[in-house]
Amino acid sequence: MIEKHTQSIAGNLKKPIALVGMMGAGKSYIGQKLAKALDCEFHDSDACIEQQVGKAIAQIFSNDGEQAFRAMEQDVIYGLLSKKNVVIATGGGAVTTSETLGALKQKGVMIWLNPSLDTIWSRIKDEGHRPLLDCDHPQDVLENLMDKRRDLYAQAHIQIDDNVLTSEKSVEQVIKAINEHLA
Ligand code: S3P
Repeated sequence: MIEKHTQSIAGNLKKPIALVGMMGAGKSYIGQKLAKALDCEFHDSDACIEQQVGKAIAQIFSNDGEQAFRAMEQDVIYGLLSKKNVVIATGGGAVTTSETLGALKQKGVMIWLNPSLDTIWSRIKDEGHRPLLDCDHPQDVLENLMDKRRDLYAQAHIQIDDNVLTSEKSVEQVIKAINEHLA
């Protein structure tokens, strides 16, 4: 099944595929599977920043602040968007920088992975590496962030509302949606 859709994309894919969405939306997980299925490189913007700066994201937030992190994120995403045949997993807040959002829309096929907040919370509640949720009421913060970001994510070319993160099915769904978008 995946093979059939992959064939339709081959040759049509002139822009990088950029996955956006909240923390825990599955951008890195799906992105890696998608890149494999499409025979593309996979890049995770957070991982690229950590590699370039030599610090963990949480450390960058606490040492340099969110604004400095967003500037680094913008630079890294600009660089990734200039590559060919890539799938990019962006950080959940990348869309909050208007220049980054503009570049994602213009230079990429922007895909919003949008599982429900309950699903997201169940995935991330036991993880401790996200600086914005390192607070007393992380679930409330998550909801507030989503309220602020929903309209930004919604500017994506493609929206996938999918709570079932079984790799085969989700990747298939994303590939089908990309084909429909490119048709
Ligand atoms: C952030 C999401 C994180 C990371 C940073 C900020 C956000 O990436 O970029 O902690 O603002 O939502 P993931 O979406 O990969 O968790």
